[in-house]
Amino acid sequence: MQQVVCRKWGPPQGLVLEELADPTPGPGQALVAVAAAGVNFVDALFVAGTYQIKVPPPFTPGSELAGTVLEVGEGVTTVVVGDRVLSSLGLGAWTTHAVVSAAALTPVPDGLDLPRAAALVQSYCTAWFALTRRTTVSPGETVLVLGAAGGVGLAAIDVAQALGARVIAAASSPQKLADATAMGAEATIAYEDEDLKTRARELSGGGVDIVIDPVGGPHTEPALRAVAIGGRLLVIGFAAGSIAKIPANQVLLNNRSIIGIDWGAWAMRNGPEQATLLAEVLAAVSGGRLHPSAPTKRPLSDAGAVLSDLLERRLRGKVVLTPT
Ligand SMILES: NC(=O)c1ccc[n+]([C@@H]2O[C@H](COP(=O)([O-])OP(=O)(O)OC[C@H]3O[C@@H](n4cnc5c(N)ncnc54)[C@H](OP(=O)(O)O)[C@@H]3O)[C@@H](O)[C@H]2O)c1
Repeated sequence: MQQVVCRKWGPPQGLVLEELADPTPGPGQALVAVAAAGVNFVDALFVAGTYQIKVPPPFTPGSELAGTVLEVGEGVTTVVVGDRVLSSLGLGAWTTHAVVSAAALTPVPDGLDLPRAAALVQSYCTAWFALTRRTTVSPGETVLVLGAAGGVGLAAIDVAQALGARVIAAASSPQKLADATAMGAEATIAYEDEDLKTRARELSGGGVDIVIDPVGGPHTEPALRAVAIGGRLLVIGFAAGSIAKIPANQVLLNNRSIIGIDWGAWAMRNGPEQATLLAEVLAAVSGGRLHPSAPTKRPLSDAGAVLSDLLERRLRGKVVLTPT
């Protein structure tokens, strides 16, 4: 088997692809032949050693995968050899073969291909958690999505639309805005060139009801200033690298709310509720209500280059790493 290994915290170019003996599943575990492993922003933070959870090297990055069960360990009854499965495992997904607790495997519904299955859990569960558990969306409300062509951004457009909202997408380039439009955004803002607050107010007819903010930095405050009466700003991440300081009067005005979204920590602490959430997402995908895009496929050996592209804002949509 081959796996990507981080031997030292630092820039992604330091990642190496290593050859190992094939593993054997222990009791309660299954060996999965990985077809695709998702790439997420958090992987770059783990590799840099800047995430709030610091994992000492060596470790294999990658938080989600999909593949086929090759072998099961003693006592496993929930999956059998040949099953198509996905898993959200935090670390260790960037590998050709993964030993995973059988309890952490979810069947991939018929009709959903493995690359899409590998790429959707983190982005879609975050967006679904945000818009169905941390707040709710009423049909006809306007949702402004920042970083709209990123993983969380595209998922948020899809989820918001499925819930009956009208979506305004903000991103940094015409290509990214075109991706957001293809996902269903009705209007777009080039937020590096246009005034985000003014355009969001104009396009929404006075103010947006919800902001999805996985970007932070200079965009959070103007987005908050565009929030209508009773609106909510959902703080999801800080891809821009800095954490905005918010003037508290901007929360008071219009009776706005700022809501924190920490899907990862919630999912770890609330296994049964996360299983329900994921089942809702997969049912919505199978039923044609959600439409995750096909991810770009890159070989495992490109892991470092892919993370560099992500950090340089060159990626559009989701990428999966596939066995070389
Ligand atoms: N709270 C949670 O539960 C949760 C769950 C998942 C992810 N997250 C967080 O959400 C954020 C986005 O994750 P993701 O997987 O969607 O990432 P992604 O696919 O890389 O998208 C991030 C987007 O941020 C924008 N961006 C602005 N400045 C950037 C910069 N300096 N470097 C990189 N990107 C920049 C980019 O869009 P433009 O170029 O258009 O600006 C990019 O498309 C991350 O901070 C991640 O840790 C949080």
